[in-house]
Amino acid sequence: MSARTQHVDFEKKFDATRTRVNQRLSELLDLYLGGPPRIQDAVRYVLLDGGKRLRPILCVWTHDLLDGTNDDACLDVAVAIECLHTYTLVHDDLPCMDDDDLRRGKPSCHKQFGEAIAVLTGDAVQSLCFEIVSDIERRIGLTPRHAAAVTRIIARAAGTRGLIAGQTLDLYPEGKRDLSAVSRVHRAKTAELIAAAMESGAVIADPVDDVRGRVRLAGLSAGEAFQIIDDVLDVEAEVDTLGKTPRKDLSSGKLTYPSVAGADASRARAAELVSRAKTQLEGLGDTSALEAILDFLIVRKR
Ligand code: IPE
Ligand code: IPE
Ligand code: MG
Ligand code: MG
Ligand code: MG
Repeated sequence: MSARTQHVDFEKKFDATRTRVNQRLSELLDLYLGGPPRIQDAVRYVLLDGGKRLRPILCVWTHDLLDGTNDDACLDVAVAIECLHTYTLVHDDLPCMDDDDLRRGKPSCHKQFGEAIAVLTGDAVQSLCFEIVSDIERRIGLTPRHAAAVTRIIARAAGTRGLIAGQTLDLYPEGKRDLSAVSRVHRAKTAELIAAAMESGAVIADPVDDVRGRVRLAGLSAGEAFQIIDDVLDVEAEVDTLGKTPRKDLSSGKLTYPSVAGADASRARAAELVSRAKTQLEGLGDTSALEAILDFLIVRKR
C-alpha cells in the first residue's frame, strides 16, 4: 500500500472513531446531565465541540488491537476518559493556573461562563467520568471486575501520583530546570492519562497480564512524546490552527522541553519516544492503526 493510501485510510478511520465518540458522548450527556441550565450549558460547551479525541481513540484502538469484543463498553470508557481530560483542560485554563483565554478555538470556559462556573464545570465533568464508568455494568453489562479495574486505572492516573502531581510541578517546579525535570512533569501531567486510556482499552479486551503492562509502557512513551510536541507547538504554531494562544509557555516562563533543549532536539526526542512505543507494542497483533496514530502525534499541527 502506498504511503498516501495509508494516510487516507488513517484519516478515515480516525474520523470514524471520533464520530462514534462524539455521538456517544452526546447520548451519555442526555442520560446523565442534570441541574440548572447554566451548568448544563457550560458542560455541553466544554465537551461537545472541538477536541481531537485522541485519548478515546487510543482506548478504542487498543481494545481493537487486542481483538477485544466489548466494543460498546469500551466506547463508554473512552468517552469517560475524554470527560476526565476535558475537566483538566477547563481547570488548566483558569486564571490561577495557566490563565488561558482560548481553548479548542473558542473562549475558555471561565471566559464564557465566569470562574465559579468553570470550577464547577471541571468538577462536574470529572464526576461524570466516574459515573459513566461505574454505571457501565448496569447499562451494558461490563463485569464489575472490569469496571473496577478501569476505575482504578483512571483514578490513579488522575490523582496525586499522576496528573495532579504533574500540574503541581508544572506550576511550582522543583530542582534544576533540566530535561529530567521536564520529563518528570510531562510523564505525570500528560503521559499517565494517555497510558491510562490505552491500558483501559487493553483491560476491557481481557489480555494476559504482561500485555497490559506493555500497553501501559507504550502509552507512557506516547504520552511523553505528545506533550513534547504540545510544547513545540506552543513555540511554532499559529493561533488559528492551534485553537489556543501560542507562546503562552514562553510568556509565563514555563519549564518546557524546547525551553531546555530547543525545538529540533525536542522533535528528535519525540520521534525516539514514538519508536520506543512502537517497539513496546510489537507482536501484539495488527499494530498498523496504533502505529499511524503514534506517527500522527508528532506530525500534528494542533
Ligand atoms: C491538550 O491536550 C492538553 C495536553 C495534555 C497537552 P489535547 O491536545 O489532546 O487537547 P484537545 O482535547 O485536542 O483539545
Ligand atoms: C496541560 O499541559 C496538561 C494538562 C493536564 C491539562 P498544558 O498546560 O501545556 O496544556 P495546554 O497547552 O494548555 O493545552
Ligand atoms: Mg498547564
Ligand atoms: Mg495550559
Ligand atoms: Mg501546552
